[in-house]
Amino acid sequence: MIDIVPLGPQHQPAIESLLDERFGPARHNRTAYRLRERAELLGGFSFVAMDGDQLVGSLQCWPIRLKSVGGSRLPLVLLGPVAVAASREGQGIGSALMRASLAAIDAADSPPVLLIGDAPYYGRFGFSAVATRHWELPGPVDHARLLLRGPTTGLPRIAWVEAASVNPSRPAKVA
Ligand SMILES: CC(C)(COP(=O)(O)OP(=O)(O)OC[C@H]1O[C@@H](n2cnc3c(N)ncnc32)[C@H](O)[C@@H]1OP(=O)(O)O)[C@@H](O)C(=O)NCCC(=O)NCCS
Repeated sequence: MIDIVPLGPQHQPAIESLLDERFGPARHNRTAYRLRERAELLGGFSFVAMDGDQLVGSLQCWPIRLKSVGGSRLPLVLLGPVAVAASREGQGIGSALMRASLAAIDAADSPPVLLIGDAPYYGRFGFSAVATRHWELPGPVDHARLLLRGPTTGLPRIAWVEAASVNPSRPAKVA
């Protein structure tokens, strides 16, 4: 029996182990991590999957921004990483985490959601690469994997995705 519950500070050590297992220690060099530097986790949109007291999946969301050529900035939600323990893949845990997070995001009438991931997986949750073709990130990105969900009206065609930097006192390298 898997429970999807809000992510709390007590889950952090197990999440770090899971992310190391699924992405390796080099995960900290990924472009998505540049966007999350100094950001505070969006607790209301972030969830873990628990099998009893064992953490078997996690999904984290972060505040980021989209800067247009004119310099205006729009808020976005960065979704990820999403990870499920290798031994528990294909049991619907990733989908359950996605549904919980997206339901919370929709209920909060939140900004559009951005992620870097496989379109064949995330397409089923309404993500598409159409609007992001000319968006730049603070590091290399495969634009076929830069996926957005939510209304695209009013979003700039050319833009820079940047960290929101909501907590300047936080160290630059966070997990
Ligand atoms: C991607 C991941 C989160 C999916 O979790 P999961 O619990 O296995 O997913 P679910 O059981 O909900 O869904 C399984 C379905 O998704 C499909 N799927 C899983 N990963 C996929 C991918 N990368 N591309 C396309 N389809 C994928 C499976 O084939 C399966 O399809 P089906 O429903 O038609 O049988 C998990 O495989 C994982 O942690 N992978 C390693 C980390 C990672 O790549 N995270 C995503 C990038 S942030």
